[in-house]
Amino acid sequence: MSTQEAPNQHVGPDYKPTSERPEATVSKSLSLDNVHILPQTSQLIACLTMIRDKSTNRADFIFYSNRINRLLVEEALNHLPVLPHNITTAVGRPYAGVKFEGRICGVSIMRAGEAMEQALRECCRSVRIGKILIQRDEETSNPTLFYDKLPADIKDRWVILLDPMLATGGSALMAIDVLLSKGVPEEHILFINLIASPEGAAKFAKKFPKIRIVTAFVDEGLNEKNYIVPGLGDFGDRFYTL
Ligand code: URA
Repeated sequence: MSTQEAPNQHVGPDYKPTSERPEATVSKSLSLDNVHILPQTSQLIACLTMIRDKSTNRADFIFYSNRINRLLVEEALNHLPVLPHNITTAVGRPYAGVKFEGRICGVSIMRAGEAMEQALRECCRSVRIGKILIQRDEETSNPTLFYDKLPADIKDRWVILLDPMLATGGSALMAIDVLLSKGVPEEHILFINLIASPEGAAKFAKKFPKIRIVTAFVDEGLNEKNYIVPGLGDFGDRFYTL
């Protein structure tokens, strides 16, 4: 599997001279139109540094991954269409604004995807959340679908699919098959994750070119156990149990 070093870049505010901005590893870029990588800001890199660090405790892991999840959800929401919305401000002046009028639903790939639900609920009040349970065979990494519980009207909603790590893409591709079988149009699905492998993102983007992926970072690749490297280990274990 491909592992190619991600680039280093000076990170920090532009007003500082380059020599005063530390060099940090930033996301690889991918030339895939449907993969959107968050801007590699100093705060994002600092949050990622915290959750990648093996010595970070569980409380900090949850706190910093939630900060990244908020950025991912806000960016995903920017991909939904809006309508003009003209209002009058509290000082009596008109303001030409916009509003989103569709319906949204989150779908978490259990269990790690559930860790992203809070950020979605914080941005979309009373949002419906469906669940899909897919488990990877530890040896072969092949996914099996165990359970799904989705809103009955899911085909009429924009779907934000939640899974923090896009490794081989096996689970996410299976989850997409479930959504498509319920009638959700491909172009109404947004897949958000914190870290993607280049091979997972490429496989996904090729199979479903109309589905948008929003990710915080594209890492170097996968190791022999299909963990993302440099990665952060097992996201679910670090968020829920360690
Ligand atoms: N899932 C994880 O939690 N971590 C990886 O590196 C890959 C898949």
